[in-house]
Amino acid sequence: MPELNELNINAVKESFKEALKTVTNLAGLDDLRVRFTGKKGDLTLLLRSLGKLPSELRKEAGIELNKLRDEIEHAIDITGKKIRDSENEKQEVSQRIDVTLPEKGRVSGAFHPVIQTMHEIANIMQGLGYSVATGPEKEEEFYNFECLNVPKWHPARDMQDTFYFPDGTLLRTHTSPVQIRAMLEYGAPLRIICPGKVYRRDNDTTHSPMFNQMEGLLVDKNVPFSVMKGTMAEMLNAFFGKSLKYRFRASYFPFTEPSMELDIECVECSGHNEHCRVCHGTGWLEVAGMGMVHPNVIRAGKIDPDEYNGFAFGIGLDRMSMLKYGISDLRLLFDGNVSYFLSGFGGVERC
Ligand code: PHE
Repeated sequence: MPELNELNINAVKESFKEALKTVTNLAGLDDLRVRFTGKKGDLTLLLRSLGKLPSELRKEAGIELNKLRDEIEHAIDITGKKIRDSENEKQEVSQRIDVTLPEKGRVSGAFHPVIQTMHEIANIMQGLGYSVATGPEKEEEFYNFECLNVPKWHPARDMQDTFYFPDGTLLRTHTSPVQIRAMLEYGAPLRIICPGKVYRRDNDTTHSPMFNQMEGLLVDKNVPFSVMKGTMAEMLNAFFGKSLKYRFRASYFPFTEPSMELDIECVECSGHNEHCRVCHGTGWLEVAGMGMVHPNVIRAGKIDPDEYNGFAFGIGLDRMSMLKYGISDLRLLFDGNVSYFLSGFGGVERC
C-alpha cells in the first residue's frame, strides 16, 4: 500500500489527468475508472491508507483526497457524457435520411400487355352484362369438336391443326368448347365471355403455337343478328377509345350459321396510308370470327334451339394488344426480354 503524502496525492492526480487524455471511448473510460476508483484503484488505496496517518495529518490529507476523488468522479462523468454525445451524433449522421435527394428510379411490375387487354375487354363485356366463364386447356374432343358441330370426318378439323395427347384428349384449339360447358352448366338465357390460352400446330412470324382468345356467347329468345353487330361495335369502340368503321365478311365456321369475320378500319392509318405497316395498305384489320350459333350447338348445350338462339364470337387477344399498343412482332409477347416493354413501347402507361 503506497504511503500517503502530498507527493503521491499529486502523482495520482497527474497520472489521472494524463490517462484521461488518452481515453477515446466508453470502454477506455471504464478502465480508467477502475484503475483509479475501483477496489484496488490508485485513489482507493490512498484513501485506505488514511487510517495509518498520525491524527494531526489525517484531517488535512482526508480533505485533499476527498477533493481529488470528487474531481476524478466529476471528470469521468463529464468525459462519459462527451463521448456518449459524440457517439450519438455520429450514429445520427450515419443514419440521417436526406429527403430532398432525387429518387434512384425503380422498376415496378406490371401486367403483361395481353393480360391488360384481357382485363380491359372483360371489363367492357361485364358492363354489357356478360360473366366470365372458364374451361380446361386440356380438353376432350367431344367439347372441342363434336359438340361444336365438327364430327370426326368433318374437313373443318383441318382448319385447326391440333395437338393430341396419347389418350385422345387434346390441347383446346379455341375457347369455343367453353360455350358448350357453360350452356350445360348454366342453361339459357346466358351471356358469357371466356378468355384463355389456346393451342395450334402453327409457328411463324405471325403465328405462335400458343395464343390467347376470348370467346363470347349470348343465348336468349329471338336474338336478332343486329345485336351481334351492335355488341361487337360497342366492345371494340370502347377498347380502342374511338368510333371505328366495321366490315362484316361472309365466312364459314361449322358452329355458327350464318358465319362471318369482322374487320375494323386500320387503327394505325384508317386506310389513308398505302404503305401502312399494320394493314399493308388494305385499310382493314381482321379481328374476330363470329356468327349466329348453329342449332346443333345449342342442342349440344342441352337447350332447345326452337326456343332459344344466340350469337358467338371469338377474338384474338394477342392481336388486339398488338394493335392497341403498337407492338409489331407477335414473338415479343412471348419473349422473356422485358426491356422492350419497360422502354415504353407504343404508349402503355407504366404502373
Ligand atoms: N372458334 C373460332 C376460331 O377459333 C372463332 C369463332 C368463335 C368463330 C365463335 C365463330 C364463333 O377460329
